Amino acid sequence: MTTSTEFLSDSPAATEAFAARWAQNLTPDAVLLLTGDLGAGKTTFIRGLAHGLGIAEPIRSPTFTLMHEYVIQQPPHLQGTPFFHIDLYRIETPAQLATLGLDEILERGGVVAIEWAERLRMANVSLRATHVYEVALTHSGETHRTVRIVEQCAG
Ligand SMILES: Nc1ncnc2c1ncn2[C@@H]1O[C@H](COP(=O)(O)OP(=O)(O)OP(=O)(O)O)[C@@H](O)[C@H]1O
Ligand SMILES: [Mg+2]
Repeated sequence: MTTSTEFLSDSPAATEAFAARWAQNLTPDAVLLLTGDLGAGKTTFIRGLAHGLGIAEPIRSPTFTLMHEYVIQQPPHLQGTPFFHIDLYRIETPAQLATLGLDEILERGGVVAIEWAERLRMANVSLRATHVYEVALTHSGETHRTVRIVEQCAG
């Protein structure tokens, strides 16, 4: 079964609020594959997601560091599990992707949000997790963005 959600956002704040609300549906061992052009709102969505997970630290794009790790504070069923924010923009080869150790990260059972998930497809990497969501952001005007979330079917 495939479940999908679509949201038309009219501001960065609306994108964040939508993501924060949507985050309440998450369960352990979830991966979000974010796709979309430069400035489509991937980091903005993740900022809202982190807020919804009770993470108080500022969310900065891990463009150079590739990965940031946080501890989820809410909802209760996720409390204490890790949240990873990964940005694959600078990844150019499958070998670089391998050094990230995505499999080990997934084994930790938290929530993993990956910007520029297109890079995984390019390297033919598919990630296994209990829930895998494709989050596609598209420009729908200067201050409008369409957020489409589709859950990948398991197995
Ligand atoms: N409705 C909206 N939702 C999200 N961002 C919006 C919206 N309207 C305008 N913006 C602007 O678009 C930009 C989105 O930037 P953001 O860093 O989130 O994009 P990104 O997809 O992560 O880009 P990159 O590919 O560089 O990582 C911000 O400057 C934000 O203010
Ligand atoms: Mg970004």
